[in-house]
Amino acid sequence: MATFQLPKNSKVSVGKTYPAEAGAKDVRSFKIYRWDPDTGENPRYDTYEVDLDKCGPMVLDALIKIKNEVDQTLTFRRSCREGICGSCSMNIDGLNTLACLKPIEDVKGDVKINPLPHMPVVKDLVPDLSQLYAQLRSIEPWLKADTPPPPDSERLQSKEERAKLDGLWECILCFCCSTACPSYWWNGDRYLGPAVLLQAYRWIADSRDEHTGERLDQLQDPFRLYRCHTIMNCARTCPKGLNPAAAIGQIKLDLVDREG
Ligand code: SF4
Ligand code: SF4
Ligand code: FES
Repeated sequence: MATFQLPKNSKVSVGKTYPAEAGAKDVRSFKIYRWDPDTGENPRYDTYEVDLDKCGPMVLDALIKIKNEVDQTLTFRRSCREGICGSCSMNIDGLNTLACLKPIEDVKGDVKINPLPHMPVVKDLVPDLSQLYAQLRSIEPWLKADTPPPPDSERLQSKEERAKLDGLWECILCFCCSTACPSYWWNGDRYLGPAVLLQAYRWIADSRDEHTGERLDQLQDPFRLYRCHTIMNCARTCPKGLNPAAAIGQIKLDLVDREG
């Protein structure tokens, strides 16, 4: 299970409490990690009491309500509000997930919200994902083919070839999995981690791609691929129900097949 770990060198103190408006009957406390690089102060948890009778059902609804009505300084990413863009990933109640897909009623007691674990924090709930994006770029996540496409059609696949991409194309790059992976926590500078490796396999598995050998060569490395120890935090936490560990296993099998 992906439990929250504080960013390095953090001491989190108790911050302010923002009480619910008078007369609120169904009140829930949201304890939210706050850190502002401009103040230089230690991080703190602020508590916001939210009237659930006047709030949408998801954790993201509560965050938006707090930002709009109580504290405009609260900072978090979001865009689509329906589990498509991957930008609202954060640690809620100890689990990395998407705030827009997490029902408030699924959390018992106070709703504790932290940024994705083990990443540098830009501000409040916004992690710095630069390293992950650089690693994603390194696997060249696009179709690479030297043969020109047919002049009058797309590059075609059989139904069977297309089916090999199921469980891969659905990834929304929220990085809940990579930031829940202990191997990525300790070796993230050299290990690519589950999200990027699932993306790597998405192109290895694509029948239209003509650079499979080169892609596999690039992964044949004790750190880039072989730091996965099948701990399975990645599959447990993925809000889209994907299994990056299985994709990593497939890459390893492809490497063995190629040599055998
Ligand atoms: S199965 Fe591999 S990639 Fe997934 S969490 Fe465990 S070590 Fe990380
Ligand atoms: S595999 Fe799942 S958790 Fe990982 S980045 Fe993709 S959608 Fe997010
Ligand atoms: S806001 Fe897009 S996935 Fe949550």
